[in-house]
Amino acid sequence: MDLPTPPHVLQAIADALHDPTTHGYQLFRNNAQFRQVVAQRYAQTFGVPVDPETEVLTLIGSQEGTAHLPLAVLNPGDVALLGDPGYPSHYGGVHLAGGEIYPMALLAENQFLPDFSTIPQDVAQRSRLMVLNYPHNPTTATATLDFFKDALAFCDRHDIILVHDFAYDQMVFRDHPHPSILQADTQKRRSIEFFTLSKAYGMGGFRVGYAIGNAELIKALKQVKAAVDFNQYQGILRGAIASLAGDQSSVQDRLTIFQQRRNAFVEAMGAIGWAIPTPKATMFTWAKLPEKWESDSIKFCTELLAKTGIAAAAGYGFGKSGEGYVRFALVRSPEELRAAVKTIGEFLRAS
Ligand SMILES: Cc1ncc(COP(=O)(O)O)c(C=O)c1O
Repeated sequence: MDLPTPPHVLQAIADALHDPTTHGYQLFRNNAQFRQVVAQRYAQTFGVPVDPETEVLTLIGSQEGTAHLPLAVLNPGDVALLGDPGYPSHYGGVHLAGGEIYPMALLAENQFLPDFSTIPQDVAQRSRLMVLNYPHNPTTATATLDFFKDALAFCDRHDIILVHDFAYDQMVFRDHPHPSILQADTQKRRSIEFFTLSKAYGMGGFRVGYAIGNAELIKALKQVKAAVDFNQYQGILRGAIASLAGDQSSVQDRLTIFQQRRNAFVEAMGAIGWAIPTPKATMFTWAKLPEKWESDSIKFCTELLAKTGIAAAAGYGFGKSGEGYVRFALVRSPEELRAAVKTIGEFLRAS
């Protein structure tokens, strides 16, 4: 993310530095205000009442939470159903916990949503965890509330914990707001959702996020974290509170910037003869590689970087079903993106 953190957030953090009450260890009670703000946001935005004491947990980014959750709930050998392609911390956490991964293929013909009917019965029976992530990194796909209800029904049938990584909550260009998993599981029977302030609020380096949902899952994750960390600095939480409860115009400004970048990139790609779909969400584009490269996305990215200096993420790096694709991150101005696409066009012609 190349955009700066909004000034009112930086100010809240700067003020905290001079307040000695923020300098000590941060125990659970010290982040009560942050948890209350999160709970209010869920009530207002999604119409889901949440208990900030038992159903919200402060995290050091959602990467930390999604990677630690499997340690809290998986026994070695339990199966985790993960999106393929998917975000690496989902995979890493299951590996650390000794779990077995069943990759749910996310295919273009299914709008990059998993087809639950293809999961073998014996795998479903041994599954303890399913991880979804919409808006999705890397495919940019979004999900509907009906899809979340179907996922919940599947998890109910097989007694599976339903995890939703909502890192790109608010990073949607239309159909606001994107549904939360808790709108499907309003009773919070088996679901937990993760959010980070890195994306919509531009706080990537500050490391702050939250988990929200089923109280037993929150408690289990809290126990793992109790052995690992004492939370982040209070000043960062004050910045996060300013982000969530303060002026929201910077979120819209950020979205407008990404929309302009997206439009410039997609249009420029069309002009070099590489047509790609217009993403509805996130800060990425997910591009199907030209035929010559479709069986080796890593080779494409390696050669593109070596010959042009342009970095893209190989689809295969996100899982087997990501092969044949490449992810471009829209982390430069429209002018720079147009120039980069022109260079990509020259690279393709020369290769
Ligand atoms: C799907 C997804 N989950 C989690 C994260 C991690 O966010 P953070 O680094 O803020 O913890 C990212 C960041 O790229 C992401 O794309």
